[in-house]
Amino acid sequence: GKGNYRHFMEKELHEHPVVLGDTLTQYLDPMSRSVSLPKLPFDPVKVPRLTITACGSAFLAGQVGRYWIEKLARIPVDADVASEFRYREPPLPEGGAAILVSQSGETADTMAALHLLRARGQKVLSVVNVPESSMARESDGAVLTVAGPEIGVASTKAFTAQLAVLACLAIGFGRARGTISVEDESKLTAALLEIPGNAAAVLDSDEEIRAMAAEVAKARDVLFLGRGSLFPIAMEGALKLKEISYIHAEGYAAGEMKHGPIALIDSAVPVISLCPSGPMFEKTASNLQEAAARGGRIMAFTDDLGAMKLRSFAERVVVLPRVGSFSAPILHAIPVQLLAYHVAVLKGTDVDQPRNLAKSVTVE
Ligand code: F6R
Repeated sequence: GKGNYRHFMEKELHEHPVVLGDTLTQYLDPMSRSVSLPKLPFDPVKVPRLTITACGSAFLAGQVGRYWIEKLARIPVDADVASEFRYREPPLPEGGAAILVSQSGETADTMAALHLLRARGQKVLSVVNVPESSMARESDGAVLTVAGPEIGVASTKAFTAQLAVLACLAIGFGRARGTISVEDESKLTAALLEIPGNAAAVLDSDEEIRAMAAEVAKARDVLFLGRGSLFPIAMEGALKLKEISYIHAEGYAAGEMKHGPIALIDSAVPVISLCPSGPMFEKTASNLQEAAARGGRIMAFTDDLGAMKLRSFAERVVVLPRVGSFSAPILHAIPVQLLAYHVAVLKGTDVDQPRNLAKSVTVE
């Protein structure tokens, strides 16, 4: 049941800390601060290229996975939505492998991609939440997210659990290939182990996020901006908002603003940015200043350091715990999902069962 929560989605959002903890401890050893992956169907040292494919939010998790795997393990990764991947006749290398991402493990397009990949000699690893699903059974190997049943149609805790697994894979691949050191592994592992506690702190910012939602609920169009591994999280924020509040939203790479979307900016369009302090902060902040100069209403998720600068021109700033750029996408997924939830509640939509959507899309 929903317990004391109004909706399954709200309950599932509040399960983030537990689900992240359960998923991470499956693949990380807190004592030795190292990653221990189950046996994989391919050797990350030998694999020439990886394909990541999935649908919807699971695909966005896969895109974050691409950033991590390329950065830490230096394996070239191709990421594509399953409905495109299966029809674009992708050239696949001998000895290649693929990672599929899915909560249900039954999504038709992702299953079709699985069949195509296997027919083309690729080894398939699936990151999946339902252990007895078709995807888990038909893949060469499966790593499970330990998110428990997800009832709300919009994915929440399963998404962050997918990120947690992909982060562990990236560290494990990096160690196997020697592209990161034991010391790096220890630091990255420690950062991930702090995520459940940080997630709980994010949930404590619920009031501020609800206040932001009251503004966002009045808008017709919303832009979400992020850079690097936060770009897919900007798209996740936009997807979730569209899905449950029916407000038109788009997620953009912050640096792409001036190549088109800036034309949309006026005082009616909230620009929600994922802008923690760190190496990309100044660049994103200057994109936001450009939007502010055109009358845009800037709202930001950042940390204490970022807030000092952003408050001078942002209408609303929600301060999240300060984390490194590696774990930032996991942490930032939570407030954008919470924001969508509160906007939907304010608009009075059917949060758990948005119109026209099904939890598991088993037809093409
Ligand atoms: C978004 C959402 C969908 C699913 C997508 C894939 O909130 O829930 O976009 O992520 O339909 O579903 P699974 O993960 O079951 O393959």
